[in-house]
Amino acid sequence: MANKQVQALNKAARAEIDIPGDKSISHRSIIFGSISEGTTHVSNFLTGEDCVCTMKAFQALGVKIDFNESTKEVTIEGKGMGALTAPSEDIYLGNSGTGMRLLCGLFAGLPFDTTLTGDESLSSRPMKRVTEPLAKMGAKIDSSDGKAPLKIHGGSQLQAISHESKIASAQVKSCILLAGLNAQGTTVVSEPEKSRDHTERMMQSFGANLKVDGLKVSLEPGSKLIAKDIVVPGDISSAAFFMVAAAILDDAELKLKGVGINPSRTGIIDVLDAMKVSYKLENETEVNNEPIADIVVSSSKIQATTIEGDIIPRLIDEIPVISILAAQAEGTTVIKDAAELKVKESNRIASTVNMLKALGVKVEDTDDGMIIEGRVGQAFEPVEDSICADGDHRLAMSSAIAALKSNKPINIEQVEFVATSFPNFFDIIEAL
Ligand code: S3P
Repeated sequence: MANKQVQALNKAARAEIDIPGDKSISHRSIIFGSISEGTTHVSNFLTGEDCVCTMKAFQALGVKIDFNESTKEVTIEGKGMGALTAPSEDIYLGNSGTGMRLLCGLFAGLPFDTTLTGDESLSSRPMKRVTEPLAKMGAKIDSSDGKAPLKIHGGSQLQAISHESKIASAQVKSCILLAGLNAQGTTVVSEPEKSRDHTERMMQSFGANLKVDGLKVSLEPGSKLIAKDIVVPGDISSAAFFMVAAAILDDAELKLKGVGINPSRTGIIDVLDAMKVSYKLENETEVNNEPIADIVVSSSKIQATTIEGDIIPRLIDEIPVISILAAQAEGTTVIKDAAELKVKESNRIASTVNMLKALGVKVEDTDDGMIIEGRVGQAFEPVEDSICADGDHRLAMSSAIAALKSNKPINIEQVEFVATSFPNFFDIIEAL
């Protein structure tokens, strides 16, 4: 396991940063490129391990995919769903919940068997949230008590269902919609709050007959999916680390370029407003049905807030780094309604609270979130020399951002997990 020591940044942080491609959209570009007809060129593809696993999965199913890691371009020769062929081995999806849950839905309706495996963290995450609705559609999937590996028995004729999801999860919603492409009848999924809608947007742009009505999505199968070039926006979840860095450091201004600002992802921007962080959006435009902008964030006097309710799915992946912002605020920040954090790459209530405690922050965990006492802009005074990322990329990166404002260097353990979503994260930190 790799360690990295991060020193505090004592000089002004002023930079323009190209944010790597969105993880959710990169996964989906491979999926829809592979099952549609024609050639899909993807640019600004996220070269992180999670998305590369999804790409290798479709290569294993016979899709010709050309990947240039240095230019971040991918070319997919789609020949339609019917051209997918049985893989010769199990399909390894690394650390990726998105890969496993989305592919499980798509593969459930294919005519051959597939087995999906993952690393230790992924193998401990709940899969019943997808295997149960898929079973109602007629899928046959063996799991290890609701966890990976998932053995999907092909050849079932799926029947559409109307699924009322109890959780706002884009992975569950997308899984069922992907299964719906191979099902008989109209598939309907509704959710209690709106989760990210990249699947809906991309399905529509590839020509699927999909309708969105508030929190309800319906899919009519049978439309031919046609290849479409995709420019992947910068990942707002990756940009979030540098939004927080700019806000908490003195004399800082960071411009984060080409970031996706899909409203189902911009909870972090609402939090910047609520916490009185100074920022502006520039060059707003749209690519492939997805809005993007440059986000400029500068040093701020941060105020505490309460984060709860339907904003949670719109910032669920940003909570570890938002906790660093809250720890620098004036006042007490409360995060609630976020029990889903417990089943992410780590138990992110426990791991985030442990990180904050190691940084010398007064924090309390709750059943569905945490209560964080802000240090009113005072540098962190770590009570430990090392922080362990707990197998979680977002914990490693959040700890590194905190280390930029600390009265002593911090050693971060397990930094290799950063490669799952933001391979050049530490290069940017070093350049700062
Ligand atoms: C994702 C959905 C979210 C998010 C994950 C990516 C996606 O998970 O946390 O990082 O790409 O669909 P849930 O669907 O479990 O909320």
